[in-house]
Amino acid sequence: MSSASLEDPRVNSTIVAAYRAKTPGSADLAAQARALLPSGIAHDARNLDPYGTYIARALGPHKWDVDGNKYIDYFGGHGALILGHSHPTVTAAAAAAMADGTQFGASHPREIDWARAIQRLIPSAERVRFTSSGTEATLMAVRLARAFTGRQAILRFKGHFHGWHDQMTSAYTNHYDGTATLGVLSDVARQSVLVDPGDLAGVDAALSNNPDIAAVIIEPTGSSFGQVPVAAEFLHGLRRLTSLHGALLIFDEVVTGFRVSPGGAQVAFGIRPDLSSFAKIVAGGLPGAAVVGRKDILDYLDFQVSAAAGREKIGHPGTFNANPVSAAAGIACLTILAETDAVAAAARTAADLRAGLNDALTKAGVAWSVYGTSSGFHLFMNPTGRAITPHGFDPGTAAFNELKTQDPRLNNRMRLAMLTNGVDLNPRLGGFTSATHTAADIAETVAAFSEALAMLKTEGELP
Ligand SMILES: Cc1ncc(COP(=O)(O)O)c(C=O)c1O
Repeated sequence: MSSASLEDPRVNSTIVAAYRAKTPGSADLAAQARALLPSGIAHDARNLDPYGTYIARALGPHKWDVDGNKYIDYFGGHGALILGHSHPTVTAAAAAAMADGTQFGASHPREIDWARAIQRLIPSAERVRFTSSGTEATLMAVRLARAFTGRQAILRFKGHFHGWHDQMTSAYTNHYDGTATLGVLSDVARQSVLVDPGDLAGVDAALSNNPDIAAVIIEPTGSSFGQVPVAAEFLHGLRRLTSLHGALLIFDEVVTGFRVSPGGAQVAFGIRPDLSSFAKIVAGGLPGAAVVGRKDILDYLDFQVSAAAGREKIGHPGTFNANPVSAAAGIACLTILAETDAVAAAARTAADLRAGLNDALTKAGVAWSVYGTSSGFHLFMNPTGRAITPHGFDPGTAAFNELKTQDPRLNNRMRLAMLTNGVDLNPRLGGFTSATHTAADIAETVAAFSEALAMLKTEGELP
């Protein structure tokens, strides 16, 4: 998103100067990292100009950088931390598993308990296959769909993210025409059928005209955790149309899983997908993921069933599949989500936060809006200058590219201004709440947001 040219060092920005003054330790580490790592980072979302913060430790809703600055964290481990950082029960479970050994090269009891903990919350999980990341989970989901249906193509929605494997790269932030992104085989890219989010007639037409579509895959609350929301009727329509045309429905619940409700989006919307992918929360904030779903589909991974059916099995190794430390953390986390109010608590906090941030926008006279559902929030920066009020904006009235458009430099300045005021948002200027954020955190965040808006005004970035 941001690039080296966003913050020209010759341009005097009080926001950049304040950020630099607060974070000299991060600046030093970033300079070292740039000699070792492309852009000095390990994930595109950590790219920030002039540099990102280096975090030393984190607890609950807070994290502290190497200079000792405290931040209220809404990055939320890319959505993995619904129980906040270092939850004591999850940490103790992982530590105990670590002491027992991290890699047995064999099955272990915790993987059975982990699958049961998933099944307890996700009724569609007749079978569970563990992978190491959400990317691997959606990769396996589409491979299973192709094997099961004997078809090649996958229907995807523009702007939806399903990890970074080859078939998922076009039409996420660019290449909306379906052409291959750099380094991806054009023959692979061609097997994605791209439809505008929310366009059920488009899905119907695509499935009717192309009998080679194996599956429809969707982020079930809309792309980027509902930054571009989709209606419940749309999801029900997808269920109906995929069944009608013999294609599979894949819910990519890597973010929504165990967050939209303890049973994910599928339980919240009362829809049973054929396959689902989970990651992040499923492993309690450690690396780990799963593809789950119908037994007759996951049977394509099963040695005995495949042999009995006289067909080839899908191969699936993976050194750290169901690793015992992630399994222990996952079991602990999912058990808490099943037995407490944590998911609802995080959602209530997000609703308070959205309301407070919209109050701040109203007071500042800025025609932006903060919206979202469950434990998420998104900042709409109104790129086309619509006549909206912060509290009154309905994202359902905007096209997906309008909701996703942000001025890169304004975005960068806003993020720096929020960091300077002690709040870490994600790169889209939204984020996740956890069950550990308190009313005091929300009040502090709203005050920081007001201050950031004032800084942007002082710089002439906002009228
Ligand atoms: C909806 C969705 N699917 C898949 C992925 C990929 O997961 P991972 O980063 O674990 O590979 C992500 C990651 O953010 C995601 O948000």
